[in-house]
Amino acid sequence: MKKETKIQSAEVRAGYAQHVVASYKRSATAPVLVRGKGARVWDAEGKEYLDFGSGIAVNCLGHAYPRLAEVMRKQGEELVHVSNLFFHPKQAELARELVKRTGSGKMFFCNSGAEANESMVKAARKAGSGEGRFEVITALNSFHGRTLGMIAASGQERLREGFGPVMPGFVYVPFNDLAAVEKAIGPKTAAVMVEGIQGEGGVIPATAEYLLGLRKVTLERGVSLLMDSVQCGHYRTGRFQSYELILEQAGKKGEFLPDAVSMAKSLGGGFPIGAVWFGKKLQDVLVPGSHATTYGGTALACAVALEILQIIEEEKLAENIFVRGEELKRGLAKLAGRGWVGEVRGFGGMVGVTVKGRSHAEVAEALAGVGLLVVPAGSDVLRFLAPYSVTEEEIQEALEKVKATL
Ligand SMILES: Cc1ncc(COP(=O)(O)O)c(C=O)c1O
Repeated sequence: MKKETKIQSAEVRAGYAQHVVASYKRSATAPVLVRGKGARVWDAEGKEYLDFGSGIAVNCLGHAYPRLAEVMRKQGEELVHVSNLFFHPKQAELARELVKRTGSGKMFFCNSGAEANESMVKAARKAGSGEGRFEVITALNSFHGRTLGMIAASGQERLREGFGPVMPGFVYVPFNDLAAVEKAIGPKTAAVMVEGIQGEGGVIPATAEYLLGLRKVTLERGVSLLMDSVQCGHYRTGRFQSYELILEQAGKKGEFLPDAVSMAKSLGGGFPIGAVWFGKKLQDVLVPGSHATTYGGTALACAVALEILQIIEEEKLAENIFVRGEELKRGLAKLAGRGWVGEVRGFGGMVGVTVKGRSHAEVAEALAGVGLLVVPAGSDVLRFLAPYSVTEEEIQEALEKVKATL
């Protein structure tokens, strides 16, 4: 096999063992990745992989997209960063484009998904503070990030173990259970926060009835509705927001608008950026001195995010990922019941398959062995998070690799 670089995998792994905090689950044989192109990456030994992890739902344009490399170079030569004490054109432009796609409102920029969710919760608490409302209802099995606030918000006990005392003010109820939310809302409730499709929890989409019911009850009870779209948003399902697709498929297109939507991951295609769209209710709550972050909405990040929006539009990548996702789902569904393949769910570039009879980590390793990278989720699910530019041939190739591990 041709040697791609002089990098020695064993040395890199040893470097991690010696100097990198072992807070991530990496198998001893996890590849040392050295370069990528489109939906493919190569390891230090020259082995090729189809990358259907895309980071973790991050690289929406795959790897080494020429226009992204070019915009990074160009913006890097012009202006990388100025503080938020000044203006720069790219932040205003990006805010306009995101508002145009979401609804009338305003944007707040930050650097990651957890931070975006923190910003939503802070705004909702501040909005409710006059009435003593601070509690946020979230869903069991949800994932909202790893900051102290967001491990408290997430509906998974394992995230909190050893990090107590846990920040108070979060109440967990079963996902897709409207009655449970209605029952949990009280005089102290400031907000309800849910994912349109639970990602880390195992690719579980919200139903249209649930989303519409949440909107109705939160409006009636004076409670903010916050959508965590960090993973399922930004065209991953083939629509800008997963809730748009869910509503559209139920014949209720355009009937749903929350009070805030958090974004990250695909928004920067690999370059770190987070953002929150705030609708009318919350758009003016965060006033000077109440919330800030040094890097939020930096010129380079905004230039990258703008270019990505333009590329997705010009190259019809939202349409592409929806169609490719349907092909992948059909192909996987044909394999359901054979080998480890169980139930198939999700949309577009966010497809989940339950794993039967073996552990999901073991199957992910077997798939990597035949050259397909996927990401485990929940206790028994594998996520297929292809880049939006994935081709029909690459979907078929991925299905062949799945068959090779049955
Ligand atoms: C739904 C959701 N919210 C929040 C986060 C946290 O994002 P980040 O890791 O960028 O902080 C994630 C990350 O996986 C996520 O899937």
